[in-house]
Amino acid sequence: MKNYVSASVLSADMLDFRNEIRKLEKSDIDMLHFDVMDGIFVNNITFGLPVLQQVRKATDMTLDVHLMIAEPLKYIKKFANFGADIISFHIESQSNTLETIKAIKECGIKAALAVKPATPAEDIFEYLPYLDMVLVMTVEPGFGGQSFMPETVDKIRSLREKISLLGLETDIEVDGGINDKTVPVVMDAGANVFVSGSYLFAAADMKAAAAALKEGKLC
Ligand code: DX5
Ligand code: ZN
Repeated sequence: MKNYVSASVLSADMLDFRNEIRKLEKSDIDMLHFDVMDGIFVNNITFGLPVLQQVRKATDMTLDVHLMIAEPLKYIKKFANFGADIISFHIESQSNTLETIKAIKECGIKAALAVKPATPAEDIFEYLPYLDMVLVMTVEPGFGGQSFMPETVDKIRSLREKISLLGLETDIEVDGGINDKTVPVVMDAGANVFVSGSYLFAAADMKAAAAALKEGKLC
């Protein structure tokens, strides 16, 4: 499977956002990961629709929108119209899972289902045939800069096994504490889309750091 790096702009300098986006483009980063938090589903509030609209105007990068909000179904159309290429929403949210997947697909974009660390892999098995991607949270959602939770690795492995068994090619994205030390572990378990915020934005050479993530080698 092809590997991808998705840069979480939660760690970007918001007052210099345009230049931060240019930097991502020049660093061979595949996607821009846009973390939306509503202060209800998680204990933090970030950015939303007007910011996404501006970002869409500023770049052709794939916009990978991660909705950490209580009622994603209400906002799917808006996020799609404002430029999302992929929308991830949480199985633990209040919206009906199948209806929300359907709403995303009706917008002609990719649908992903996200799971918090405590949610077992089995809970998403039934939705796999309808999904383009599964997002496995490798930290508790809410904040950037946390440490990777190794107990999430078995879940990645069983999801990849189930996906293969079903003859699917669903991407598995991992999010939280991903860096050059943790990426070999999640890659071995079957993940192929690597979200990274603090590691990428703190790197002296972002392009080398992104390459290290894609190759699963120590930087
Ligand atoms: C956490 C967010 C992540 C976060 C990743 O709730 O979903 O995307 O920004 O940041 P790092 O790579 O710093 O763990
Ligand atoms: Zn995220």
